[in-house]
Amino acid sequence: MPSTLSPRNMTDASARQRRDRLLARVEQRIEEFLAAERRRWAAVEPVSVELLDCVVGMFGSGGKRMRPAFCIAGYLAAGGDPDNPVIVDVAAALELLHSFALLHDDVMDDSERRRNRPTAHVLHEELHGQRGWRGEGRRYGEAVAVLGGDLALVYAERLLADCPTEVRRIWGELCTELMVGQFLDVRSAAQFDADPERSRWIALLKSGRYTVSRPLTLGAALAGGERFLEAFEEYGLAVGEAFQLRDDLLDVFGDPDVTGKPGRLDFQQHKMTLLMSLALRDEPAVQELFSGEGRAPDPDVLHRLLIATGVRDRVEAVIEERVVAAGRAIGEALTPEWAAELLSMATEAAYRTG
Ligand code: IPE
Ligand code: IPE
Ligand code: MG
Ligand code: MG
Ligand code: MG
Repeated sequence: MPSTLSPRNMTDASARQRRDRLLARVEQRIEEFLAAERRRWAAVEPVSVELLDCVVGMFGSGGKRMRPAFCIAGYLAAGGDPDNPVIVDVAAALELLHSFALLHDDVMDDSERRRNRPTAHVLHEELHGQRGWRGEGRRYGEAVAVLGGDLALVYAERLLADCPTEVRRIWGELCTELMVGQFLDVRSAAQFDADPERSRWIALLKSGRYTVSRPLTLGAALAGGERFLEAFEEYGLAVGEAFQLRDDLLDVFGDPDVTGKPGRLDFQQHKMTLLMSLALRDEPAVQELFSGEGRAPDPDVLHRLLIATGVRDRVEAVIEERVVAAGRAIGEALTPEWAAELLSMATEAAYRTG
């Protein structure tokens, strides 16, 4: 029998198909929600669509949709009813929260590209210039992007109107972690002290939790699957960290055409990623590169050193260990079908190229 038709693969496919069917409903839910909102505001105040389009544009520019995918997987794996409309709303809220996070993150990180398009603040700075408007174009662009992000967060909240208290509680935690994580990210970039454990903690808080562990536990809580929470938490923290460590590696070693965002931005923004904190703490050649007041190291030299000193491989080893830990965490707790699906999702998150 060809391997694609083995019973194991047939059940794997069916878990993914069920996940993807709900994901398609999430896409439709967000599209309809945003289209209705855009129509309503076009009638009230025509120029307001420029602001709404920050959200429409971010959502419409694609992305991997990982947060809704993990939420739905957690929900279905915990035995949730696929016909319950609330799961679609919760998963949709997670994607809009992600739009909010990206709109603000690109301002904070001074990034010019997202998903292979100009970022919202750059776009609106350009519009300001083209229109010959007054004031600082950069401040205008950033103001629009910040407000667009705020709007995406408000829309996410609106989609949660019908969800149970426990889901709202987890949502509140998730949002707080994200904001604190982003604060620690910019703070540690400014402070620039190499502390690998702190870098790992920041990766989890600013990204891993809202991307993987919290979406999974939101899904399980909505399904009433309390007994899955512990395994999901352990799996989710491991995969979430691997996801962000890969993001950090892609910034340095990835292809910007595939990631859709600028390369080596973390160098420019002196981000204290695990990669950088290991290099700065342990490698004299890297320390030398940064010595001297306000010295900005040559990015090509830094890039080469991260490979030559083996620091890149050390981060790869952490990613690998995290994926193995994730597999262990769910091995016993789930049906073989969902354990296999979640393991595929872990590998996809940890070894993506974009
Ligand atoms: C990018 O997230 C921001 C981080 C948390 C690292 P994704 O890599 O999931 O971005 P999209 O949604 O696929 O574009
Ligand atoms: C972003 O982390 C985390 C959030 C969006 C909350 P990064 O700053 O590393 O994400 P990218 O690399 O810009 O996508
Ligand atoms: Mg960024
Ligand atoms: Mg950032
Ligand atoms: Mg990044």
